[in-house]
Amino acid sequence: MAKTVKDYIRTIVDFPHEGILFRDVTTLFADPRGFRMCVDQLLSPYAGQPIDKVAGLEARGFILGGAVAHQLSTGFIPIRKKGKLPGAVISESYTLEYGEATVEVHDDAIQPGEKVLLVDDLLATGGTAEAGIKLIERLGAEVIGCAFVVDLPDLGGRKRLEGMGMDVHALCA
Ligand code: PRP
Ligand code: ADE
Repeated sequence: MAKTVKDYIRTIVDFPHEGILFRDVTTLFADPRGFRMCVDQLLSPYAGQPIDKVAGLEARGFILGGAVAHQLSTGFIPIRKKGKLPGAVISESYTLEYGEATVEVHDDAIQPGEKVLLVDDLLATGGTAEAGIKLIERLGAEVIGCAFVVDLPDLGGRKRLEGMGMDVHALCA
């Protein structure tokens, strides 16, 4: 039977902490068929929709977001962990499945009224994506969709984002 995106993802037990089943997408990215299939499927719901920019969440959202932006011929905007971006930034803090973090975006990276597609590898609690959405919206832009490779539904991220009125697209659970 033909392999699906999920077949290329491996699970590492107890990383980075005991009790976490870590979905490792490096095996998906390393495979030419898997990576192509993944980028195509991430994009498919947005065919024909106007998209001005793709924003990716550090770190694996950069790999996906860059490929998606290239395919759409849009620019790519990195949403980075605190202290990494060199220019003037705006920040949002959030709680993770295993810790706390702050993400930032350059304050001139996205213009008011632009339509942005947010991309990341995985949706768990939705804290990271929510922080990214807030940053984009604070710059006056519209998040037209949030696309993930993996959704871990038990952690509530999809409900959280849909509760904010977001359109959530994920390739597997
Ligand atoms: C992972 C993943 C998402 C986030 C999802 O990143 O790539 O960005 O967690 O979790 P959430 O839905 O509970 O917010 P991580 O924080 O491990 O950072 P990294 O990609 O820089 O390793
Ligand atoms: N980020 C948060 N939870 C994760 C998980 N279980 N696997 C991979 N990345 C994650």
